[in-house]
Amino acid sequence: MTTKKIVFSGIQPTGDFHIGNYIGAIKRWVAEQDLYDNIFCVVDLHAITLYQDPKILRAKIRQAAGVLLACGIDPQKSLLFVQSHVPAHAELAWILNCVTPVGWLERMTQYKDKSAKLESVSTGLLDYPVLMASDILLYQTDYVPVGEDQKQHIELTRDVAQRFNALYGETFAIPEGTIPKIGARIMGFDDPTVKMSKSLAAEQKHHAVGLLDSPDQVWAVLKRATTDSGKEITFSEDSKKAGVKNLLTVYQALTGQTQAEIENHFEGKLYGALKREVADVIIEALKPLQARYNELMQDTSALDAILQRAAEQAAARAAPTLRKAKEKVGFVV
Ligand code: TRP
Repeated sequence: MTTKKIVFSGIQPTGDFHIGNYIGAIKRWVAEQDLYDNIFCVVDLHAITLYQDPKILRAKIRQAAGVLLACGIDPQKSLLFVQSHVPAHAELAWILNCVTPVGWLERMTQYKDKSAKLESVSTGLLDYPVLMASDILLYQTDYVPVGEDQKQHIELTRDVAQRFNALYGETFAIPEGTIPKIGARIMGFDDPTVKMSKSLAAEQKHHAVGLLDSPDQVWAVLKRATTDSGKEITFSEDSKKAGVKNLLTVYQALTGQTQAEIENHFEGKLYGALKREVADVIIEALKPLQARYNELMQDTSALDAILQRAAEQAAARAAPTLRKAKEKVGFVV
């Protein structure tokens, strides 16, 4: 029996992982694989709550899994699988639907934001948080590291679990949302006042560096990185110097040098040199990762086999909780 805390992370297969994800989250996930019982789930069922081009979605699902493996998520230590491969997620979601008042879902701010932009809103979009509750509750999860935008969904998950437990008896552990322990917060290269994000990266060409970007693409973004009209290259907290500080933070995260060493190194140099060196450090960091990724992608049947094995493990771990829920509601199991 493991006594490690169970940590569940859901990863959308839409959008591309960027250097901010790597420095802020993935590096830590890899480093902490022995500390927690980590479950990483590529949430393709969630992805189709908004229309996705099927060909692109299929490629993106493999890409998300491949990038995580290439970054060092070790299938021997962590569970990394694709949501739709484990039918228990959809099955438990149905049972949870039946204890979730529709009003709870209509109140979700993410639903209100997303649905306001659509002509036709799918039932799946409304139901999204119940599926998310199912993901989390199936594994008796202790912690769910989520950003601000997902906190309301975690609250809903707790409410649904408590309601089920109250109606039918103790079945689900009540999970806690945690603020992800981030290595360093990386801001947009085009706008250092906002956190680097997948959605902004999709809209703004010079916002982020993708983990699969070529050296030329890295440089194209870095050379346009926002700095300021001054010339000091320091980790200053002055908001006018946020761009320079962001570049230095990336440099620090990827080289492991101290702030003093880095400020010394750049003393008297120009912003152009800073950008070039940060680009080079990124390019070097991405090289081994991309090599592993390309190797994995050469034979998607091998990758699919890794994911299939993980799905079997996930299904086995989810089975007792699903069975218990079915028993509790009165099914013949
Ligand atoms: N909704 C999450 C997001 O957009 C993804 C997600 C799906 C998730 N299921 C989850 C996150 C379970 C944490 C736990 O980021």
